[in-house]
Amino acid sequence: MHELKLMDVWKRYKDKDAVREVDYTFTNGVYGLLGENGAGKTTLMRLICGVMQPTEGKICCDNLEISGMGAEYRKLLGYLPQEFGFYPDFTAERFLRYMAALKALPKDDAEKRIEELLTMVELKNVRRKKLKTFSGGMLRRIGIAQTLLNNPEILVLDEPTAGLDPKERVRFRNIISSLGKDRIVLLSTHIVSDIEYIADRILIMKNGELIQEGTEAEIIEKVKGHVWKCIVSEKEAECLGQRFIVSNMRSNGENVELRVISEKQPMREAELLDGTLEDAYLYETQSTEET
Ligand SMILES: Nc1ncnc2c1ncn2[C@@H]1O[C@H](COP(=O)(O)OP(=O)(O)O)[C@@H](O)[C@H]1O
Ligand SMILES: [Mg+2]
Repeated sequence: MHELKLMDVWKRYKDKDAVREVDYTFTNGVYGLLGENGAGKTTLMRLICGVMQPTEGKICCDNLEISGMGAEYRKLLGYLPQEFGFYPDFTAERFLRYMAALKALPKDDAEKRIEELLTMVELKNVRRKKLKTFSGGMLRRIGIAQTLLNNPEILVLDEPTAGLDPKERVRFRNIISSLGKDRIVLLSTHIVSDIEYIADRILIMKNGELIQEGTEAEIIEKVKGHVWKCIVSEKEAECLGQRFIVSNMRSNGENVELRVISEKQPMREAELLDGTLEDAYLYETQSTEET
């Protein structure tokens, strides 16, 4: 088991602090990094993968600074970048062989590993199809298989669920859950439901900062007593929408049922509801004057 420790990590681009003051320690498990576009997720992941150096602070793996570990660290690491480049004319199998060669895997090991991975990501029956014929979900799965070739103990996946349909999301979730048992898995997303149930811990990023961290239950606990059901007219709904965070809205033609997040009761008839991770995420990341 490895310990990956970020100590007061900052990354500055010219005049922008993309990552600010991040202190965090990862051990085995699945970590979901949640944040809006521009929150700093990709930058943080690049720092963790050693693709970029922090402007300030240190990142250590088992107490050694990763920048000094070189190949030793890369051996532990699997990284699926947000923009994952592939070779359209390669077949799935050839692509994995090629990537295995780049990672300097011995040939026999590579063949065995490719078999295992094609089974795991359920692409065995299309192994001889060219990647240009693959759907978004199939490409994501081959991308994940590629990151797993060297059996990495630290796996970093940047928005791995982007472009997946609901069925593919379920399949993806099952793959990730099985991987988190004996390694560090960090995956980013801006879609809350993608990490619900699979992340052991959830990290919420906003404006480059880690503003919240905990298990799903711990994070939901923070929104307890602040989620309200309001049944109102269309006109009132519009008014509430301007004053409060509204996490859901359903109209039945006559009335509108709103799910409002507010520390104070938003209106007299409002009833308290149980919070969800989505509610908690909105509560942490959206701020309005009223809350
Ligand atoms: N190479 C770069 N040069 C300048 N600014 C950048 C660069 N990469 C990212 N940024 C900025 O840093 C912030 C964080 O970006 P990013 O890490 O990509 O966030 P996320 O992955 O959460 O969408 C954004 O405001 C983005 O515009
Ligand atoms: Mg990103």
